[in-house]
Amino acid sequence: ALYDATGVRFRSPPFSPARVRAALEERARPGKRRWWWAGALAVTGLLATLWPFRPSIAPVARPAANLYSAETIERGRLVAEAGDCAVCHTAEGGTVNLGGRPFETPFGTLYSTNLTPDPDTGIGNWSFAAFERAMREGIGRDGRHLYPAFPYTDFAKISDADMQALYAYLMAQPAVAAPAPQNDLRFPFNIRSMMAGWNLLFHDPSPFKPDPTRSAQWNRGAYLFEGAGHCGACHTPRNLFGAEKGGDARLSGALVDGWEAPALTAASRSPAGWTEQSLFEYLRTGRSDAHGVAGGPMAPVVAGLAELPEDDVRAIAHYVATQMDAPLSDPAQSERAAAVVAASRAEPVGQEAGQRVFEGACAACHENGTATFTSAKQALALNTNLHSQRPDNVIQSILGGVHAEGVAGAGEMPAFAHSLSDRQIVDLVQYLRARFAPGETPWKEVGKTVADLRREHDQQ
Ligand code: HEC
Ligand code: HEC
Ligand code: HEC
Repeated sequence: ALYDATGVRFRSPPFSPARVRAALEERARPGKRRWWWAGALAVTGLLATLWPFRPSIAPVARPAANLYSAETIERGRLVAEAGDCAVCHTAEGGTVNLGGRPFETPFGTLYSTNLTPDPDTGIGNWSFAAFERAMREGIGRDGRHLYPAFPYTDFAKISDADMQALYAYLMAQPAVAAPAPQNDLRFPFNIRSMMAGWNLLFHDPSPFKPDPTRSAQWNRGAYLFEGAGHCGACHTPRNLFGAEKGGDARLSGALVDGWEAPALTAASRSPAGWTEQSLFEYLRTGRSDAHGVAGGPMAPVVAGLAELPEDDVRAIAHYVATQMDAPLSDPAQSERAAAVVAASRAEPVGQEAGQRVFEGACAACHENGTATFTSAKQALALNTNLHSQRPDNVIQSILGGVHAEGVAGAGEMPAFAHSLSDRQIVDLVQYLRARFAPGETPWKEVGKTVADLRREHDQQ
């Protein structure tokens, strides 16, 4: 039966997770997507039935307010900031951590939960053991499996002391009653126990292991990046089963919430190249002169990092720099940046329609030499997004503008969704590519991407 379902023949038992995973990845080729889902389901379903049932953990009374010290609660607040709990657990315009933010998946809509210590609708009657199991293994207090839209796959790496502090912090917040909206997931994805098989194949709940051959700073950065920071959850592409890919694909860039999270490896398309110093500036303030701003889903991440001690953000920058093979600093970076900007002064031929839109709507803020209070500080030619293989982030910035609340350096740009037509945006985007990334090939299917992203915008 296993062979019929998956097309994968195992010569000898037992079906270890590693073997099933290797065989599935081996067989997973583009063009066979539909068929593959059926196989994946059969295998995860089969493994789910082999996996022991997860019991519920008895409810407890909420810990007394004076049980934890102020230092522990403050430490927990920083873990929560690093982990962006409030970003996902707060609905648009809603009360912090009350849940109800929708997550669109290919299988339907899932909602985040109430993270306040309300005993009935939040986590008020969760013991630390129940909380820790959810954070490390993705199992709710009542024993049900949680979906990995909740990044427990990364949170599993949070240290015991940080996990205790996080629990203390959440329990010390005001309790507010609000049930999470009903999920709207299609059969069979609404069967939570299927996640047991997924966890067996794709989740590694082992604690963070420092690398003794690396510096303390590198290990601190790795811990924050891989654990609470869950940076890979957005920057690593996922396989057909929704699990992060490994090997060369790790941190190689991925699509998330209609945006592209760019590569954080040597494959970065930043034209002037990153340095550890410029990564630190970007992560600390949301902007870097030789790159651009955090204006999309990266903005709340930067707002969270702003709460952390400076050394922690330096450690993350150091760790990212080693993933990118980027130097600490690079005197040639500003020269290279100047050359990239100089190359973008010439008007491209054959892009007159887009040029007209740019001159009418954008040049006042984006043309060099016309700096005013509202004008953009960074040259568009240095923006990674214009050099990417995909136009998504540029289109997102045009449709929605840049409004990075809580991000010191991001600046403010108006939205153009209502003043520019799809046709104008397509012309404009092709012009921007030709002028500011003259060495790159033109983007394909810009019209379709504009239409798709505008539809998502209208729904928000
Ligand atoms: C990327 C979005 C995201 C982030 C970041 C996030 N969560 Fe969640 N979380 C979710 C979603 C979605 C669910 C619901 C999962 C489900 O129903 O299967 C959830 C569920 C949970 C649950 C289970 C609650 C229940 O009632 O079953 C806990 C506990 C939790 N999150 C804690 C946290 C903490 C603590 C943080 C910060 C360190 C955090 N989450 C950050 C998306 C997120
Ligand atoms: C919610 C998804 C998400 C998470 C979590 C996330 N990022 Fe990002 N990141 C993005 C997106 C999307 C962009 C593109 C720009 C934007 O959003 O403004 C980006 C941009 C970046 C950039 C700029 C890359 C370039 O070449 O322009 C860096 C560096 C970065 N992220 C590092 C990190 C680090 C370090 C973490 C963890 C602390 C992290 N990201 C967590 C989504 C995310
Ligand atoms: C009122 C001034 C203003 C106008 C008008 C304006 N921008 Fe911007 N734009 C900004 C600011 C400020 C930023 C933030 C970055 C910075 O400070 O350099 C920005 C950033 C951007 C970015 C990078 C966003 C990111 O997330 O990396 C793009 C792309 C962009 N603008 C394109 C345009 C286009 C195309 C137009 C015309 C349709 C336009 N802008 C009109 C002020 C403006």
